Amino acid sequence: MNVQRILVTGRLYAELAALLPDKRPDKAFRFVAEEELTDDDFVWADAYVGFRPAGPFSLANLRWVHSLGAGVDAFLWKREWKKDVLLTRTVGSFGEQIAEYCLSYLLRDAQCHDVYAWHQEQRQWKPFAPKRLGEQRVVIYGTGEIGRRIAETLRLFGVSPIGVSRSGRDTPPFSAVYRHEEAGEALACADWVIAALPLTEETHHLFDETFFACLHNAGFINVGRGATVEETALVGALENRNVRLAVLDVFEEEPLPPHSPLWVHPNVIITPHIAALTSAEDAAQSILDTLRCIETGEPLANAVDVSRQY
Ligand code: GLV
Repeated sequence: MNVQRILVTGRLYAELAALLPDKRPDKAFRFVAEEELTDDDFVWADAYVGFRPAGPFSLANLRWVHSLGAGVDAFLWKREWKKDVLLTRTVGSFGEQIAEYCLSYLLRDAQCHDVYAWHQEQRQWKPFAPKRLGEQRVVIYGTGEIGRRIAETLRLFGVSPIGVSRSGRDTPPFSAVYRHEEAGEALACADWVIAALPLTEETHHLFDETFFACLHNAGFINVGRGATVEETALVGALENRNVRLAVLDVFEEEPLPPHSPLWVHPNVIITPHIAALTSAEDAAQSILDTLRCIETGEPLANAVDVSRQY
């Protein structure tokens, strides 16, 4: 495929302006803030790089769209796509970042940070043994690049992670992989469920009342997409103790609205969609690698299957 005029936008556009043109002096670039995009940019460009379709986004003249995020729901969810436009995504160090995020909350819980902080405030000396991470039963929804990296990291601490995927196909490093319909038993004894799913027709509100009813006092972490969770069902599950602690980085509506009951729930930890952030360096590398593969016809590891929506 021949790509000549690349329109770059999104929060990293100025940093990418300093990184890309020297590397590919044969290409024409425009670096534009989202709010300054015009129709003319989309008439000019044959490739678009950004976190989402911004400004007067139009696929009409584009051949290639590169998502600066790992998730591509901003481009595909409830939107029309044009079959002949290639969609690729940035993966970079997402798996490592998300694995560290999850690990930090598992350890915080196992080492009873909250309890000891409270005891210290009360000047109370009350020893009891922290839980060992290796004894925690962890179920990870999503066995793609990110889910696998979480599983690999937890394995280093002795966890035998169970995966849940569309196909239920055995995938290392998971000890076992089930389809969602078959996961009931694993969920019933899970200490933690980690959701690392993209948003698709199939995963929308997958974590609903029926799902949460399978859990018994489990921790629930969502590092995938907010709309995979039915938030009212989650609040109900926290009340019923199906879920004892929810760690949420993503929400159906972002920013999470001030009136959401999740903000003030004592057993909910909220972070503002930071479990994995694209750095300018990761983004530039991903753009350059993808561009090279497009030009040489090498296989693209980061191409999105638009029919599957991820
Ligand atoms: C973050 O959630 C991303 O998709 O990049």
